[in-house]
Amino acid sequence: MKVKNIVFATANPNKLKEIKSAINSFEIVGLKDLKITEEIPETGDTLKKNALQKAKYIYDKTGLDCFSDDTGLEIEALNYQPGVYSAMYAGPDCNAENNMQKVLQELGETPNRAAQFKTVIALVLQGKEYFFEGVVKGEILKEKTGKGGFGYDPIFRPIGYKESFAEMSIAQKNEISHRGLAVKKLITFLAEF
Ligand code: IMP
Repeated sequence: MKVKNIVFATANPNKLKEIKSAINSFEIVGLKDLKITEEIPETGDTLKKNALQKAKYIYDKTGLDCFSDDTGLEIEALNYQPGVYSAMYAGPDCNAENNMQKVLQELGETPNRAAQFKTVIALVLQGKEYFFEGVVKGEILKEKTGKGGFGYDPIFRPIGYKESFAEMSIAQKNEISHRGLAVKKLITFLAEF
C-alpha cells in the first residue's frame, strides 16, 4: 500500500521545509495546514519519548498518520549535554542565539570539541508505532560561522567538511544531517510498507 498523506507534527517551519525538500513521494502536511496552533506537549526525558508523544498527540487528535522528530545536540566534554534539553539550554529566555552562546561559554577553550546531533523520528501509522534514528558526528566551532540553517547550525561542523551546517545549502545539509539520515530510513520504510 502506498501512503500518500502524512502529517509532520512540528511547529518549526525550517524543519518542515527541510523535510519537504527531502521527501518527494509523499505529501507532507504541516500543522498549519490542519489549523492546529496549540503547543504540543513535550515532557519526556528522552528524544524517543518526546518524538512519540508529539506524533501520538496529533494522531489521537486527528486520526491521521503522523510522524514527529526530536533532536538533541550531544557534546562529549559537557557530559553529552544539552541532549534532550537542547531547545531550552539557556534557560527561560532561551533562543538559538543564547543557546549557542551558552555552549561556547561552557566549552571555553576546551580542546575536546567532539559533538553529535541525534534525531529520533516516531511514526504512528495505522495505529502502530515505528522509530528511525539518525546521527551526525562533528565538532563545536570556537565561534559562529555562516548565516544559513537554524538552531545550533552556525557552531556545528560535521566531520570531513570544511563548512559549518550554517554554510551549507538545505540539500547539502539533508544529505548528511542527523534528520536527513533519519528521514532516509523513514522514506525507505514507507516505500516498502
Ligand atoms: P527539537 O526538539 O528537534 O525541536 O530541537 C531541539 C533543539 O535543537 C532546538 O534548539 C533546535 O533549534 C535544535 N536543532 C534541532 N535540529 C537542528 C538542526 O538541524 N541544526 C541545528 N540545531 C537544531
